Amino acid sequence: MFLLIFSLLLASPAAASADNAAGPKSIFLLAGQSNMSGRGGVVNDTWDGVVPPQCRPDPMILRLNAALAWEEAREALHRDIDAEKTCGIGPGMPFAHLAQRRDPGIGVIGLVPCAIGGTNISEWRRGGRLYGQLMARAKAAVLGGGGLIRAVLWYQGESDTTSHEDARLYKRRLERLFNDLRSDLLSPVLPVIQVALASGSGPYVDVIRKGQLELELPNLRCVDAKGLDLEPDGLHLSTRAQVRLGHMLADAFLGITAPLPVQSSGAHRRWLEVAHDPLHVDIDHKVSGIGPGMSFANPLLAKDPTIGVIGLAALKDGGALRALLWYQGESDTKFLQDTESYKANFEKFIADVRADLQMPTLPVVQVLVTSGDGKFVEEMRENQQAIKVANLKQVDSKGLELIFDNVHLSTAGAIKLGQILNPSYIVKFKSKTHLMDTTTKGNERVNDEGVVERKVETVDYRKPAGEEEPRPEKVAVTHLVHDDNNGGAAAKVAEKLPAVSEAVGDTISRKQ
Ligand SMILES: *[C@@H]1O[C@H](CO)[C@@H](O)[C@H](O)[C@H]1NC(C)=O
Ligand SMILES: *[C@@H]1O[C@H](CO)[C@@H](O)[C@H](O)[C@H]1NC(C)=O
Ligand SMILES: *[C@@H]1O[C@H](CO)[C@@H](O)[C@H](O)[C@H]1NC(C)=O
Repeated sequence: MFLLIFSLLLASPAAASADNAAGPKSIFLLAGQSNMSGRGGVVNDTWDGVVPPQCRPDPMILRLNAALAWEEAREALHRDIDAEKTCGIGPGMPFAHLAQRRDPGIGVIGLVPCAIGGTNISEWRRGGRLYGQLMARAKAAVLGGGGLIRAVLWYQGESDTTSHEDARLYKRRLERLFNDLRSDLLSPVLPVIQVALASGSGPYVDVIRKGQLELELPNLRCVDAKGLDLEPDGLHLSTRAQVRLGHMLADAFLGITAPLPVQSSGAHRRWLEVAHDPLHVDIDHKVSGIGPGMSFANPLLAKDPTIGVIGLAALKDGGALRALLWYQGESDTKFLQDTESYKANFEKFIADVRADLQMPTLPVVQVLVTSGDGKFVEEMRENQQAIKVANLKQVDSKGLELIFDNVHLSTAGAIKLGQILNPSYIVKFKSKTHLMDTTTKGNERVNDEGVVERKVETVDYRKPAGEEEPRPEKVAVTHLVHDDNNGGAAAKVAEKLPAVSEAVGDTISRKQ
């Protein structure tokens, strides 16, 4: 009924951080028009040069300059980006200062200024010059330091207030822009903090404002510029207002607790698409509705921000398969003999899948059926429960709500199932860091008892006779990766462990 493989695009964080220790850890993209670019302190095309303490430079706050190099950020942040205008104070620096003060774990912040004064939303559409520039800068930001894009800060709309048609289309264009950005940045739930326009020169400010305030997307927040004071030009936020706005943006960003943003350093490649229900719409040619996939994936991002982009259902651009989620069996409940052969068939199926994927320890989470096309549902459940496969975790769909046909899970039932699958995966496999990539594949195997072993090199501290200080020694250790659901077999292996250590002992080599 439901088969899902989910995978992770490897960000290879170790390699990235080693590359460029000086790069930022948390990257923010700043886009939109003049108020994001910053006109605080600009009067008659001249910036007064006043930098309030909330905007002062700090070695922990970097800026990606027009030459795509990181440098210590200082006002005016957009001076070489929005270069045709006179730039002043914007919201970026006060945002960064407050975000760091509230969340020291955020690390070095990298601001990527991209805003250009006077631009309308159509100019920001995918395929356009501004969009291309934003993507190019985002990629350079990620690749030149290995940080993670944590959010997009967006403040725009004034230029779309003059025509009713544009104002009317604004919400739709905005939504498309945010979706495109998330998709192209490989970050399906990337936080976007946008600012609702308070007033403007065109007659349709309220239409724009309404579109901004009403747009609903996961992890999209809107802060309201209403009440912030303007420069004498009546068109741009003052320095004081920009400081306040920066703090509002930081509060909104830090208020997003889950799910967290993700990207891989392979952000130059386009992956599949942002997943949405019905997940199987182009796979299962029946009418598809809500399944458990999305409610499985979403909390996973929240609980494990390091997991990276979650790929549902297919693996294209690299990454590591993390698990197979399996829910099937209803069609095998019509005949008793089908239920009886189910166990052996399933065990063989998993062995084949693992062999073909060259992942002998690929985690499998299986759902026990609760209903069926035939009457042998209980027999099927018993045979499913008897299945013995290493690294298999079973969860029960019993009690989940069905629709009227009494066979399929309702939306509520499917969501609940995703939420049951999620902790099962986390508790069972995540803690053991089941990263099924080529770096661990070679070290793991399923032994004769069907139990997963992993060989690792570790350092042991021993005190050779006659020496005071223990000395570190490199030893090879065989770990049992998996231990329950195979209690008997695991116990057998445990019995054999002394023999294993003895064998390994022969290979112990002194480190120095
Ligand atoms: C800005 O220019 C206007 C018109 O030229 C002038 O009246 C005003 O005094 C100037 N303001 C400042 C602060 O220089
Ligand atoms: C947006 O701006 C561009 C360039 O200034 C202009 O050609 C276009 O007509 C504008 N589009 C809308 C919808 O305002
Ligand atoms: C700047 O922001 C203020 C407050 O939202 C708004 O009234 C004004 O129209 C904006 N100006 C531009 C040029 O976007």
